[in-house]
Amino acid sequence: MPVPPVGVVGLGQLGGSLAAALAASGRPVQGWDVDPAARDAAAARGVQITRELSGVVVLAVPLTAMATALDGLAVDADATVTDLGSVKRPVLETVGTTLGKRFVGGHPMCGTERSGHTAVDPGLFTGARWALCLERGTELPRWLRVAEVALAVGAEVVPVTAAEHDDAVAAISHVPHLLAAALAAAAGAAGPLALALAAGSFRDGTRVIGSDPAFVRAMVEGNAGPTAAALDRVREQLARPWAELVADGHAVATRQQGRRSVRVPLERAALLSLGRAGGAVTGRLAAFVEGHVPEHD
Ligand SMILES: NC(=O)c1ccc[n+]([C@@H]2O[C@H](COP(=O)([O-])OP(=O)(O)OC[C@H]3O[C@@H](n4cnc5c(N)ncnc54)[C@H](O)[C@@H]3O)[C@@H](O)[C@H]2O)c1
Repeated sequence: MPVPPVGVVGLGQLGGSLAAALAASGRPVQGWDVDPAARDAAAARGVQITRELSGVVVLAVPLTAMATALDGLAVDADATVTDLGSVKRPVLETVGTTLGKRFVGGHPMCGTERSGHTAVDPGLFTGARWALCLERGTELPRWLRVAEVALAVGAEVVPVTAAEHDDAVAAISHVPHLLAAALAAAAGAAGPLALALAAGSFRDGTRVIGSDPAFVRAMVEGNAGPTAAALDRVREQLARPWAELVADGHAVATRQQGRRSVRVPLERAALLSLGRAGGAVTGRLAAFVEGHVPEHD
């Protein structure tokens, strides 16, 4: 079966990296960005710059631009539209409401604190988890079409609902961004001596707050409820005796985890169970997907 073309709207770090990776593999890739420099950089990597998009159309613009990203673009009526936004419920409520069954939300769990087309890395998705939303109304053939794009650039697909995704990333992404900001602000208040002595643990703990503040703000404010709940859970942890807390945190961070190969039928409930178990899809067979789930000692 011929693979459909991919159209990428927003050719910055994430979109430019996706377009570059697909173009390098010989796949037809169309793309558009409001920034002429991003368009030129993508064109130099083999992306056809056009406002006419078809196949799988990927919205890779900032969260604040998602709802209007397709304005002024001609999108084929058969196209399946997905997005790479870091929060899924707000995009489902805006873009998903407009496009209905043509929309499948997604979020690759990769990227750095850099932004724009100068941060493009065609290897960005290799080995990354890519959350892909399976809502009640999601059409499985469209979900599989988007999953195929993620697999094509070396990612592993995690089936989720938008609500489950937002709760999960609050704990592992949005709270870490706020904690990094709090650490940096507290160290700043501690004075120049503390900042002069800051080394590895401070650098690692504050790395993500080097991201564009507008990006971080859109992310945490767009997922305010789950992020506040996850932050409360961190406060509860901080109130525990330090020895217990350090031991428990160390145990989670150093837990040895194997994996077991699985085959999962192409069916919503089974796919979502795989995601909830911490598993991921790594390939597609006729009536199954293949993947793995974690095994604990
Ligand atoms: N940076 C990360 O670590 C990361 C990780 C996963 C997902 N995401 C998500 O991916 C999306 C893109 O993030 P990024 O880091 O690539 O941002 P970026 O700033 O690097 O790139 C965004 C690009 O979109 C373009 N753009 C803005 N409005 C546009 C519009 N209306 N039409 C066309 N192009 C437009 C900008 O010119 C820019 O080139 C965001 O929704 C973000 O939440 C980011």
